[in-house]
Amino acid sequence: MMKKTPRVAKLRIVGDKMDGRKKVLVVHGPNLNMLGTREPEIYGKETLPDINRRLIALGRAAGVAVACFQSNQEGALIDRVQLARNQQVTFIIINPAGFTHTSVALRDALAAVAIPFIEVHLSNVHARESFRHHSYFSDLAAGTICGLGSHGYELALQFALRQT
Ligand code: DQA
Repeated sequence: MMKKTPRVAKLRIVGDKMDGRKKVLVVHGPNLNMLGTREPEIYGKETLPDINRRLIALGRAAGVAVACFQSNQEGALIDRVQLARNQQVTFIIINPAGFTHTSVALRDALAAVAIPFIEVHLSNVHARESFRHHSYFSDLAAGTICGLGSHGYELALQFALRQT
């Protein structure tokens, strides 16, 4: 009679690097959850889930895990950026939205984790009101992309994928 080989559960280490793939974090600031209906003549008709789905698919095709996070709360955005260091995120793509022009604290979080990042804006902030011309992030960023709509996120991800 054939002896049955005992089944050994396969160990899967989940955690730090998500599922072992390299990881890019995409952070969306306040009001970007309203994309699609929010001032579509400025921000376009695509929704945030549409944009995120495309980024995740692009990452998957390249073998890189893309995690997307949106919050209207400054503190939640800061907590998410801090968490990125523990998760060994290798690159951040961030649209700080309105916090671009106000948030020293979110800037400090990005400086603290020292993860390279690209700042993305859907609209061309330099062609808009003067209060949108200053960013607390641009001088720390690896680069900035603005005015190219949601395509800007994809260009940022393409760059990130080359770095990771
Ligand atoms: C934005 C530009 C910001 O000035 C504005 O506050 C936003 C969106 C953009 O993607 O174009 O909320 O970051």
